[in-house]
Amino acid sequence: MGEKHILCIGLVCLDIISVVDKYPEEDSDSRCLSQRWQRGGNASNSCTVLALLGAPCAFMGSLAPGHMADYTRDSLRRYGIDVSHVITQAGSSFPASVVVSNVTNGSRTILHMNRNLPDVTAEDFQRVELPHYKWIHWEGRNAEEQVKMIRKVEEHNSSCRPDQRISISVEIEKEREELYQLFPHGDLVFVSKDVAKHFGFHSAPEAVLGLYPRVKKGAYLVCAWAEKGADAVGPDGTVIHSDSFPPETMVDTLGAGDTFNASVIYTLSRGQSLQEALTFGCRVAGKKCGMHGFDGIV
Ligand code: ADP
Ligand code: FRU
Repeated sequence: MGEKHILCIGLVCLDIISVVDKYPEEDSDSRCLSQRWQRGGNASNSCTVLALLGAPCAFMGSLAPGHMADYTRDSLRRYGIDVSHVITQAGSSFPASVVVSNVTNGSRTILHMNRNLPDVTAEDFQRVELPHYKWIHWEGRNAEEQVKMIRKVEEHNSSCRPDQRISISVEIEKEREELYQLFPHGDLVFVSKDVAKHFGFHSAPEAVLGLYPRVKKGAYLVCAWAEKGADAVGPDGTVIHSDSFPPETMVDTLGAGDTFNASVIYTLSRGQSLQEALTFGCRVAGKKCGMHGFDGIV
């Protein structure tokens, strides 16, 4: 069977990126510095980073048929990411983001479009050969279905040897009520700054402590906070922190969070500590902020 893989489930989309040195004014007509297409989507970006770090990984998500699907599959394959669980959904349109990436401050402004692409369901997940994986990560989307998938992994875990168990992580990034049911379902839970703020927290350490009662016993809760780095808490209740590692020149923060998540998962999946995972996550995410795309992160 070879080395066990890390599976990431979530969105793949097209990012149409315009690089500017000044954010455009509404109804203006200006030139950008460059433009490029890039495969995007949180789970897809995290797979790119895992692959670059050298972790065997697979992406599970939906594609709409057509040229974009070919581009996306090719891009996943080019990084050595397993695409056997990519599902083509007839009759749907490919999701895309128009991204304005400002090289002067690294900001990325995203306008996302997803009209009708169905997310992966628990029924699709039945086809996943669980023993091939050591870790499964869900980007929080259709949470009700995702909880069903996670339950299946929990059942698998309760019937196998402890060293064969699959670690479960979830990302709660968007401020959507439906996603909050994912809190008690991960061994590792990523909560975003936006969600933390939605719950009334003003910093990552406050957020991980305040939201910790929502996660399951023994879980890790992690919150990244851009230039402030990231904080986490585990079962002993101690808050762990890493500063960020800002690059010499800030270029592009698109996918910094996805890079951070992948690097944390990578570190923990190799048996390292939560502190090591946070520090590595911030280090790799910082490096990503200093470049366009992901290719130079290692
Ligand atoms: P995103 O907006 O992509 O979700 P986050 O704000 O969650 O990204 O940041 C993830 C990690 O990326 C942070 O913990 C930090 O290490 C790094 N990072 C993001 N933005 C910056 C920044 N402006 N300066 C330095 N590091 C950053
Ligand atoms: C970055 C990203 C982009 C995509 C957008 C979708 O985190 O995944 O690649 O366009 O977010 O919300």
